[in-house]
Amino acid sequence: MGVSNFQPAHLALLAATGVTPVINQVELHPAFQQRDLRAWHAEHGIVTQAWSPLGQGTILADPVVAAVAQAHEVSPAQAVLRWHLQHGSVVVPKSVTPARIAANLDVFGFELTPAQMAQIDGLDTDGRIGPDPDVFNGCASPGAWRRVRRRARGGVRNGVGQMRDLVQ
Ligand SMILES: NC(=O)c1ccc[n+]([C@@H]2O[C@H](COP(=O)([O-])OP(=O)(O)OC[C@H]3O[C@@H](n4cnc5c(N)ncnc54)[C@H](OP(=O)(O)O)[C@@H]3O)[C@@H](O)[C@H]2O)c1
Repeated sequence: MGVSNFQPAHLALLAATGVTPVINQVELHPAFQQRDLRAWHAEHGIVTQAWSPLGQGTILADPVVAAVAQAHEVSPAQAVLRWHLQHGSVVVPKSVTPARIAANLDVFGFELTPAQMAQIDGLDTDGRIGPDPDVFNGCASPGAWRRVRRRARGGVRNGVGQMRDLVQ
C-alpha cells in the first residue's frame, strides 16, 4: 500500500493496525527536506517519494545548486534530482517540456561528492510550498468542494450511461 502526505503521527496510527505502507509520497526538495520524516521512513522500511522534487522550479536558480550543477556539467534540475536519489528518495518531477523530461531522467551518469551533498543539505529553510498535512482540510473553498462533488456525480452518471451503451 502507498500513502501520501502522511506525517509520522499518521504512520504510527497505521502501524498500530499491523499495516506498514511501502511508500509515502510527500513534499520534499532542498528548501524543505523533511529530515525527521525521512528518518522515520528509514527506520520502518518505508520508501520516501518526493513530490515537487524541484521545489516547483524555485530552487533551480539557487547559486549553490548552480555551482554543483556546473561542476558536473549538468542542469540545476539534474543536480537536485541526483541529490534526492543519493539520499535514497524516489522522485516525481513534472515537466511539460520534452527536453526537460528527457534530461530529468538522465541522472545516472554522475555522482555528487559528499561535500556537494552537504552543500545542498545546507539549503533547508523549512520552506514548505504545498499545504501542511496537519491542517489541510482537502478543500480550497466550499465552492470548490461543491464543484468537485458535481463533477464526481456527473462522472458516475456518464459511467453508468457508457456501461448501458456497452451492454445494449
Ligand atoms: N501527492 C501530493 O499531494 C502532490 C502534491 C503536489 C504535486 N504532486 C505531484 O508531484 C509532481 C511534481 O510536482 P510539481 O509539478 O508540483 O513540482 P516540480 O516537479 O518540483 O516542478 C515542476 C516545475 O519545474 C519545472 N521543471 C521541470 N523540469 C525542469 C528542468 N529540467 N529545468 C527547469 N525547470 C524544470 C517545470 O516546468 P515545465 O513544466 O514548464 O517544464 C515546472 O514548472 C506532479 O506530478 C504532481 O502531481 C503531488
